[in-house]
Amino acid sequence: MAIDIPRELIDKLAQARRVAVLTGAGISAESGIPTFRDALSGLWANYDPLKLATPEGFVRDPKLVWEWYAARRTRIASLQPNPGHAALAALERRFEQFTLVTQNIDSLHQRAGSHEVVELHGNLMRVKCSREQVVVSSFAEDESPPRCHCGAYLRPDVVWFGEMLPVDALARAEEAAEHCEVFLSIGTSAQVYPAAELPLRALSAGATVIEINPESTSLTRHAHFSLHAASGIVLPQLLERLNAASA
Ligand code: APR
Repeated sequence: MAIDIPRELIDKLAQARRVAVLTGAGISAESGIPTFRDALSGLWANYDPLKLATPEGFVRDPKLVWEWYAARRTRIASLQPNPGHAALAALERRFEQFTLVTQNIDSLHQRAGSHEVVELHGNLMRVKCSREQVVVSSFAEDESPPRCHCGAYLRPDVVWFGEMLPVDALARAEEAAEHCEVFLSIGTSAQVYPAAELPLRALSAGATVIEINPESTSLTRHAHFSLHAASGIVLPQLLERLNAASA
């Protein structure tokens, strides 16, 4: 399916030196990971997020929370990056500065070859001590949950509801949004702050904002361009057009 990508959009990207990207669950949808807000098949549809994705839920039932995340980890490890992830990795190589900010915890950007990835919500594949907050690389796989050498439980290194975002990651994301010439918002419902604020910061700083999402979001009316189609379809075509424009 050929997507109608405006010539002016390609020109803006062809001229840009600094590009920032924000991705959400939608970029991984075509890899087989359900999005959060999909009412029928969404990740939270059969689970109570307050039991699984809050520090209080972990204190109440550490085994349930650990096992739920362990199952997600195994499932995601068996899935592959899709053409949207691959196109972003190829785009990174074209620009002087390219910062890929993601709300996803699935490592699929890194597995597709992206290097400058800022993870706002942590990474499911990493584990940290629930007391010391330090990342731990080896632990007893057969315990549920395993314990840190300090005696506290280990937990996934992801940001749960009600928790602060990693300070360094947020600072890097804000810096990229405020200093880019083009900002792409891809596969995010743009509802969860502070991530949702990044495209607005970019707009205020004078960047061209491009949204890629099959649905309209609260960002759509602010964006300079909105491409309403799946990112795994749009991004490879965008890359191809950009390559052709600078050939
Ligand atoms: N290509 C691009 N976008 C898609 C695709 C696709 N193939 N499929 C779905 N989308 C869009 C949906 O239209 C929706 O706007 O992806 C968006 C996914 O939205 P959410 O499920 O709300 O995911 P996200 O924006 O990443 O959520 C942000 O909320 O629950 C928290 O911490 C969690 O990181 C998550 C945050």
